[in-house]
Amino acid sequence: MTQIGHYIAPTRRPDALGAHSMDTFRMAVPDLEQARRFYARFGLDVREEGNGLGLYTFNHPHRWGLLVEGPRKSLGHLSFGVFEDDMERFRARLQQAGVQRLDPPPGFESNGIWFNDCNGLLIELRVAEKSSPDAKSTVEHLIAGPGQRGAPIRGAVPDVRPRRLAHILIFVRDVAESIRFYGQVLGLRLSDESGGVVAFMHGVHGSDHHMVAFAKSNAPGLHHCSWDVPSIQDIGLGAMTMADSGYADGWGLGRHVLGSNYFHYVRDPWGSYSEYSCDIDYIPVEMDWAGKSHPIENSFYLWGPEPPKDFAFNHEAPHEPEMPAAAGI
Ligand SMILES: [Fe+2]
Repeated sequence: MTQIGHYIAPTRRPDALGAHSMDTFRMAVPDLEQARRFYARFGLDVREEGNGLGLYTFNHPHRWGLLVEGPRKSLGHLSFGVFEDDMERFRARLQQAGVQRLDPPPGFESNGIWFNDCNGLLIELRVAEKSSPDAKSTVEHLIAGPGQRGAPIRGAVPDVRPRRLAHILIFVRDVAESIRFYGQVLGLRLSDESGGVVAFMHGVHGSDHHMVAFAKSNAPGLHHCSWDVPSIQDIGLGAMTMADSGYADGWGLGRHVLGSNYFHYVRDPWGSYSEYSCDIDYIPVEMDWAGKSHPIENSFYLWGPEPPKDFAFNHEAPHEPEMPAAAGI
């Protein structure tokens, strides 16, 4: 990591006030032991922390997620990382926007700024190192030369280990209002939108095509957390490992249109998903990406199997009407 003399500053757009990273998500689940098994098998470094579980990726110091035990699956809060010298301006912006500041939830006392988003989801802005990538993540595609074996021997393949959290997709009551709120308050920018039911937001300081995305529902909730892996082969191996371990439900292998990433979603024990993601589009710090609206039929996925009928079902909503799977996630 950072060493004196070798410090490389994160990418930053000096004239813009915006969150630089989707720092941490907190979710309650009904069975922590079941969660430990699922996420460890998925390839994460799952650590016991207090009464909960921290979700890490191997060889990376950042804690991407925190799981606590609760009566049912429930997204607790999202923490976004900001630069330290931006905190004062964020405080002023919230006041100007009439957003009410809240106390941290019990056990999560911090110096961050806490408030509810337009959907009633608890948000924290906290000073943190920029954990969103400063450049497009590398993609490995090994091509065997003549006279060489291209595939490793099955059984001798190392475990799939995601490199980092890629993004979070949350259910929101109002997609257009969420684009406005996360734009005006958190300083995120629209990457793409489809049919008024799904939208993708990126950071102004250099980030993937989306660090957070929205899908329409009648209540907040977590649809999926997405984890970056270095190759399409890792997606395939990860999906097979999970299926062999009893987690066969999901969707993939496929390629998205918006964000362009290759994907396989694995359904977790509570009906949400963890996504293996590779080769997502990157929006550099100096670029003004033109956010666009796309018809659903052209923008959900480029190729892949039919998604499960209940793919866009919000298990955190009490009476969620089933949405068409083509809602576009
Ligand atoms: Fe995703």
